[in-house]
Amino acid sequence: MENFIYSIPTDIYFGKGQIRHLPKIITEYGKRVLLVYGGGSIKRNGIYDTICDLLKKEGIAFWELSGVEPNPRITSVRKGVDICRQYDVEVVVPVGGGSAIDCAKAVAAAVSYEGDAWDLLIDPSRIVSVLPVVTVLTLTATGSEMGRSAVISNMDTNDKKGFAHPDMRPKASILDPTYTFTVNAYQTAAGTADIMSHIIEAYFSKEEGYMQDRMAEGLLKTCIAYGSKAIAQPDDYEARANLMWTGSWAMNNVLKLGKNIPWSVHPMEHQLSAYYDITHGAGLAILTPHWMEYVLDETTVDKFAEYARNVWDVSLSVQDPMQTAKEGIRRTAEYFQKLGLPSTLREAGITDTDCFEAMAKKAALETKQAYRTLTKEDILRIFQAAF
Ligand code: NZQ
Ligand code: ZN
Repeated sequence: MENFIYSIPTDIYFGKGQIRHLPKIITEYGKRVLLVYGGGSIKRNGIYDTICDLLKKEGIAFWELSGVEPNPRITSVRKGVDICRQYDVEVVVPVGGGSAIDCAKAVAAAVSYEGDAWDLLIDPSRIVSVLPVVTVLTLTATGSEMGRSAVISNMDTNDKKGFAHPDMRPKASILDPTYTFTVNAYQTAAGTADIMSHIIEAYFSKEEGYMQDRMAEGLLKTCIAYGSKAIAQPDDYEARANLMWTGSWAMNNVLKLGKNIPWSVHPMEHQLSAYYDITHGAGLAILTPHWMEYVLDETTVDKFAEYARNVWDVSLSVQDPMQTAKEGIRRTAEYFQKLGLPSTLREAGITDTDCFEAMAKKAALETKQAYRTLTKEDILRIFQAAF
């Protein structure tokens, strides 16, 4: 296990009705707020009204950045920065899934930076200071509510980039599983696949981390047990609650501390979103089994067999490590299909391979040090196999 510093200071308010704490949390940091949200789900399910009432009662002034896109754009970040500067905003409060939260984090980081916000995506060391971020989570997937990263797209250049800073980690997050009852089956499935991918990315590392890997297996089993339950019954509180807390733990760094290794599938998926604007979790569900098959060989077979045995209980029926490993990969793909996710890029609406070369080139910049090094050619083959 490598050396690490453990510091995950986000306060989590978990459970039904925890929104009542929001005004108290905000006023620790200020009384001028930017609310950041997406295309209107929070208005349809009543969360918006609840929050506005709470803020007004406490005399907290707020301005709004609405319409943040899934796969949030740099153009939305720029709008948010302008509002913050114009009204001297002190606290940024995203209400939504990863897209609203990431946009809010980027706004919070860019307000004090004199140049264009996109510069910070290219070089986060330019971040001067970050406004406090307090999140209200409405979709279980990215773990952004407890993490220090944000992912922003620039559709002019087909770039989707992640950046991170310790101060971008939310000061507090409100996780009320009932807020996710209205998430539809597709987004629930995509969110579950995203959580599973975060865990898998940390699990397949060259560094040993026995304790982290046993935690990872438990978290994966939780996704497997509750992902389909939440889809079958959207208001199943236990299912939504287990997924919600797992989503945060998958990304709050615990699983990768001590075995930090660049990820493999996310850099490839981010290219799919950047070029074709597809749902992040759906892209991961398509690519993950193909990546697994591609990197499975005599050097990785033991880890994949361990995964198959401990996550999918495969050893009960198959003894040979290679066969065990392949069965684990097969069950991974089968589970994503059972959730209703696409299994090929064509099914996700991608009709040509024209951009694959350029996408593979960009993704390969991030996968040199991955679990198994992936060159541009490797990535191209994975895209083609997934097509
Ligand atoms: O925009 P609204 O109307 O709110 O609708 C959203 C959106 O259409 C809807 N939704 C959210 N909460 C809902 C709801 N619908 C009904 N009821 C609710 N309670 O769901 C749709 C998707 O929302 P979005 O926020 O885009 O989803 P997600 O949380 O999956 O976030 C995806 C983004 O996060 C990035 C992804 O790349 C993508 O851009 N990621 C961020 C990471 C991070 N910050 O560390 C890591 C991840 O790997 C990922 O890359
Ligand atoms: Zn992800």
